[in-house]
Amino acid sequence: MKIITTENYADLSKAAAGVIAALLKKKPDAAFGLATGSTPVGTYQILIEMVRAKELSFARAKTYNLDEYCHLPQDHPQSYYTFMHRQLFDHIDILAENIHIPLGDTVDLEKSCADYNNLLAGADIDLQLLGIGGNGHIGFNEPHTPFTKTTFVVELTEKTRADNRRFFNSIDEVPKLAITMGISNITAARRILLLASGAAKAAAIRELVKGEVTEAFPASVLKNHPDVTVIIDREAAALL
Ligand code: PGA
Repeated sequence: MKIITTENYADLSKAAAGVIAALLKKKPDAAFGLATGSTPVGTYQILIEMVRAKELSFARAKTYNLDEYCHLPQDHPQSYYTFMHRQLFDHIDILAENIHIPLGDTVDLEKSCADYNNLLAGADIDLQLLGIGGNGHIGFNEPHTPFTKTTFVVELTEKTRADNRRFFNSIDEVPKLAITMGISNITAARRILLLASGAAKAAAIRELVKGEVTEAFPASVLKNHPDVTVIIDREAAALL
């Protein structure tokens, strides 16, 4: 696991965008696993600027998002579909048919999981971008999720719902279910890029770097992956 510590969030975003841009320049048809959350927003902004400056093109790239809330309409302001379009896809030259996000707004969630797994089986993801939850979750793989899981429907923990409460009017509006890539889908990517910023992530980063590999801390699975880069800012690195 390679760890890069940056001075602040702006530098973290630059470093992460640099990794993504370098891969895309080398391999214009690369497949990216993408993440929502506040951490990658700065990275996405830099990528948008690079596309606008014609330094970079996603015209042949494919993307696969980690997760989506269940039973929230795609066009709901807090759906991950909306988030990804607002924060990235609407502003770059990616083709709509090359964007893949799990379908959570469906009555047949089992079919939706099976469909996404089939898609991922042929996706050959070059780089998976990840954030990390305060409890070590990656995607919506909460503590004690078996490392062998593929795409599944998860009941969100009260901690994760409380963390995401800030985006909704009340805790009652925060969805209780989500569909997520499983840990085995995530670790199938050739390369992993995990980002963490701020003091709220410091304990999780210490556990990731210094702790054991255990299903009690999902991100610890990354210690078994051959090509992981972790980019953290000084505050997130404070307990190392
Ligand atoms: P954040 O979320 O980027 O909003 O901190 C990360 C996560 O919970 O996976």
